[in-house]
Amino acid sequence: MHAFQIKHPGDPDVMQWTELPTPSPGRGEVLVRIEAAGVNFIDVYLRKGAYSMPLPGTPGGEGAGVVEALGPEVTSVRQGDRVAFADRAGATTPGGSYATHTVVPADRLVAIPKEVDAHTAAAVMLQGMTAHYLMLSTFPLRSGHVCLVHAAAGGMGLLLCQLGKKRGARVIGTVSTAEKAEKAKQAGADDVILYTEQDFEAETRRLTAGRGVDVVYDSVGKTTFDKSLGSLARRGMLVLYGQSSGPVAPLDPQVLNAKGSLFLTRPTLVHHVASRAELLERAGDVLSWVAKGELKVHVGATFPLARAADAHRALEGRLTTGKVLLVA
Ligand SMILES: NC(=O)c1ccc[n+]([C@@H]2O[C@H](COP(=O)([O-])OP(=O)(O)OC[C@H]3O[C@@H](n4cnc5c(N)ncnc54)[C@H](OP(=O)(O)O)[C@@H]3O)[C@@H](O)[C@H]2O)c1
Repeated sequence: MHAFQIKHPGDPDVMQWTELPTPSPGRGEVLVRIEAAGVNFIDVYLRKGAYSMPLPGTPGGEGAGVVEALGPEVTSVRQGDRVAFADRAGATTPGGSYATHTVVPADRLVAIPKEVDAHTAAAVMLQGMTAHYLMLSTFPLRSGHVCLVHAAAGGMGLLLCQLGKKRGARVIGTVSTAEKAEKAKQAGADDVILYTEQDFEAETRRLTAGRGVDVVYDSVGKTTFDKSLGSLARRGMLVLYGQSSGPVAPLDPQVLNAKGSLFLTRPTLVHHVASRAELLERAGDVLSWVAKGELKVHVGATFPLARAADAHRALEGRLTTGKVLLVA
């Protein structure tokens, strides 16, 4: 098999395409032949050393493919099944999805419905389940709510625009370019603000007749955080779920009082799919919406697996819309 190996943190070229022995699945584990791997910002943070990973190691937390071999005591899947995953928590063999093969605990795998191809499944698992928990659990959106979605043409953003509309809310998006604004509108955003040219806080107030929004879904972090708080209605919630522009500075809780009894949370996917039941519920909803055509997955950039470094450069360089995918 081949896999990317990172021996030390650094720029995209620290990922080296390497021939390795094919791992044997341990008890409760499955060997998956990867057809497509999702590229996520967390892979960039891990590669750079902003978050730690065991080294040498293979990046990639998301993928889809075919079951090639079963470890002892696996009964939930069979050889040849089409499966997808969005984390490999508990796997005994180190190694992620930027590889031709990887080992995944059977209880982290979900079956791909027959209407959904493996590339689409790999593209939607992580961001789709994230959009699901953000809009159904963290701040359950409903008709009458107004939400602000940052980076609305990104992989997360295009899903949040669609899901926000599906929940009956009004969606205001922010993006960096006119081309991205068009994509966000096609995904359902009612209004789009060019946050690189306009003051999005003032614009959000204007669009909501001074009231502000009920919730901000903020994946950008450092450059948006303060104005995100300033865009909220009284008792609104800032859901800070990422930091593509860098980490946010420490906050005095008194600010939440002064700005209107605000709520602040910093959630992450692993805590929302920790149990098998919750994983199956969220993945089941997302994949069935995709199967029924109720949720469109926009793959904005596809790279051959061996060109992962170019995929990272595109994502970090703010050059992509929708999902970035590696295909075997
Ligand atoms: N907490 C969770 O459960 C969870 C789950 C998924 C993702 N995330 C986080 O969400 C963030 C987005 O990740 P993603 O993989 O899903 O990608 P993504 O949604 O495609 O986001 C990338 C977009 O972020 C925007 N951005 C703003 N400032 C940026 C900067 N300085 N550098 C690069 N991009 C910038 C760009 O859009 P514009 O050009 O329009 O500004 C860019 O296209 C990451 O921080 C990621 O870790 C968190």
